[in-house]
Amino acid sequence: MKVFVTGGTGLVGSRLIARLRQRGDQVVVLTRRPAAARTQFADCTVVEGDPMQEGPWMDALADCDGVIHLAGENIFARRWNDAFQTLLVDSRLKSTANIVKALARNPRTPAGAGKVLVNASAIGYYGPHGDEEIDETGAPGNDFLARVCVDWEKAALAAQEHGVRVAIVRVGVVLDRGGGALAKMLTPFKLGVGGPVGSGKQWMSWVHNDDLAGIFLLALDNPAATGPLNGTAPNSLTNRDFSKALGRALGRPAFLPTPAFGLRVMLGQVAEVITTGQRVLPRRALELGYPFKYPVIELALADVLR
Ligand SMILES: NC(=O)c1ccc[n+]([C@@H]2O[C@H](COP(=O)([O-])OP(=O)(O)OC[C@H]3O[C@@H](n4cnc5c(N)ncnc54)[C@H](OP(=O)(O)O)[C@@H]3O)[C@@H](O)[C@H]2O)c1
Repeated sequence: MKVFVTGGTGLVGSRLIARLRQRGDQVVVLTRRPAAARTQFADCTVVEGDPMQEGPWMDALADCDGVIHLAGENIFARRWNDAFQTLLVDSRLKSTANIVKALARNPRTPAGAGKVLVNASAIGYYGPHGDEEIDETGAPGNDFLARVCVDWEKAALAAQEHGVRVAIVRVGVVLDRGGGALAKMLTPFKLGVGGPVGSGKQWMSWVHNDDLAGIFLLALDNPAATGPLNGTAPNSLTNRDFSKALGRALGRPAFLPTPAFGLRVMLGQVAEVITTGQRVLPRRALELGYPFKYPVIELALADVLR
């Protein structure tokens, strides 16, 4: 299979491309940083371009069988202001609109079948929740990130009008050795001053990056995968229980709470992402038979902290 990937240089994309290459797929990586990408992906075709802008890169989709669209400005890259929030929206919506435009020009694979688009979204789609379990049928939230996700998914689903199968992976909190949320949490824990954030009662729907890559591959391969799939492990935890598990895995104490207001002062609006949460169940992935390699936090942390 020949797969066109955007955002392939990021945390999720790097792992996913490694998995695609391992199973013998050809990968075309779209990036704004071709030199770095060529070093990172010696065995992939690297195409230079910014998915937010239409350009010659769109021709590179023509002979691909599927597209995995991950590109989007990182929500933790900067303190939020109006300009940055616009970039968070535009880097997702404009890029998705351009991907759909490129797919509309060539909606069929070289073998004549309909192409597939697997588009990233986030569990932020559901907005902050309490203890109830949420599957893919859950209603969207109404905060900034939920509205971004709703519009992002709608933009991707537009490809269906051209006969493209669209699957959307609502990504949870990704655990990986290479960075992301865990890398940020590790320092205080290693210093023995880690602990729950805010009340600690907020749910944290985590996923090991390797299982997330597996869910993206399932979405790519399985014709029954259409619409949303939650990209989370089947056993979410409250932030307090996650902190305890991390402390145990590191052999460090984990009882010093970080006050929510301090985090708000330090990080601004994005602190909400950490002080609130939702308990998400990957019902579709389970229904489609995805075998989780890291279903519980102990297994995931043992691997990630190895
Ligand atoms: N990691 C998580 O915990 C998490 C949770 C929920 C949702 N997600 C979503 O999953 C997707 C992948 O996440 P990730 O953690 O792998 O992200 P990441 O490490 O921040 O990488 C995202 C990639 O997108 C491209 N990109 C960044 N800013 C861009 C911009 N302004 N315009 C165009 N392209 C841009 C970059 O590729 P180039 O520099 O090569 O062009 C970058 O490598 C993202 O859309 C993210 O919102 C991630």
